[in-house]
Amino acid sequence: MTGREHRAVGDGTPGAGAVRARARGKVNLILVVGERQPDGYHPLRTVFQSLALSEQVTARHAQTLTLSVTGDQAAEVPLDGTNLAARAAELLAAHLGREPRVGLELLKGVPVAGGMAGGSADAAATLVALDELWQARLTPGDLLALAAQLGADVPFTVLGGTALGTGRGDVLTSLEAPATFHWVLALRSEGLSTPAVYAEFDRNVRPHAGLSEGDREREGELIAALGAGDPVRVGAALHNDLQQPAVTLVPDLSRSLAAAREANALGVLVSGSGPTVAALALSADHAEDVAAAFAGAGASDRQLVTTSSPHGARVASRVS
Ligand code: C5P
Repeated sequence: MTGREHRAVGDGTPGAGAVRARARGKVNLILVVGERQPDGYHPLRTVFQSLALSEQVTARHAQTLTLSVTGDQAAEVPLDGTNLAARAAELLAAHLGREPRVGLELLKGVPVAGGMAGGSADAAATLVALDELWQARLTPGDLLALAAQLGADVPFTVLGGTALGTGRGDVLTSLEAPATFHWVLALRSEGLSTPAVYAEFDRNVRPHAGLSEGDREREGELIAALGAGDPVRVGAALHNDLQQPAVTLVPDLSRSLAAAREANALGVLVSGSGPTVAALALSADHAEDVAAAFAGAGASDRQLVTTSSPHGARVASRVS
């Protein structure tokens, strides 16, 4: 696997074709983090929501595993063995007892290293594309189990929609969330490392012994508000235990948080491990106002307006 260039080579099989799949980025509406475990991971209780920002993966038969990346921030995506799409292809091939002879073309639409699961969405889209290309017919349970081996957020990017995550964030229960929510993202071109944010959490934030009464009430209120499609109540229930450590590492984030509050965002928080800041708006118009406020605060390089999405990782088309 080499090069940023497209090097995928068809294997000449008549009608071999290619499969294109998409998976979405996410925000965490609640992220409650417990004490670091001996395996280095932290137990989580989190509510994920998919966004209408997609990663697209096109998989075609090839002689060896190759990878190419285009789209926003493509130059910042690693093309070595740490790339989650390549790891997904290797894992699925090993599971099926075959070689990962496939060319993967990634089209990035989710901000890179922003705490929005862009890399995880690449892995999720790769798994469903290759399941189709190789006619593997994995069960949903097998797909989620393979996803969990690739990273804590990968199972959610397979499932999509709105879901409660426990364990490392990989044990999922889908939640009812019939409304479309308007999200505004303040993006920074320099990413934050997830392990660094968790390490800062370990150093400076006293971990919960378990879920506190307040955590339980907030989660119950959020789940009820999602079911009722009430964005005002959803906004009031947003919470992230990783916000303080992320702000400690990037103090400028507090300016984006303050700007969204001043623009009457229904709620605002650091997304996952940051550095993206996500604000909930009342409408598409209000979202534009909040985006202007983010820009005015001068603590983000780019602002994006988007909505929630009900979709998980899905095959979009077969292409030739
Ligand atoms: O699973 P993933 O590779 O996405 O996690 C990246 C890093 O984030 C882990 O190596 C770990 O340091 C941290 N992490 C954690 N607890 C979680 C999820 C991630 O400590 N539940």
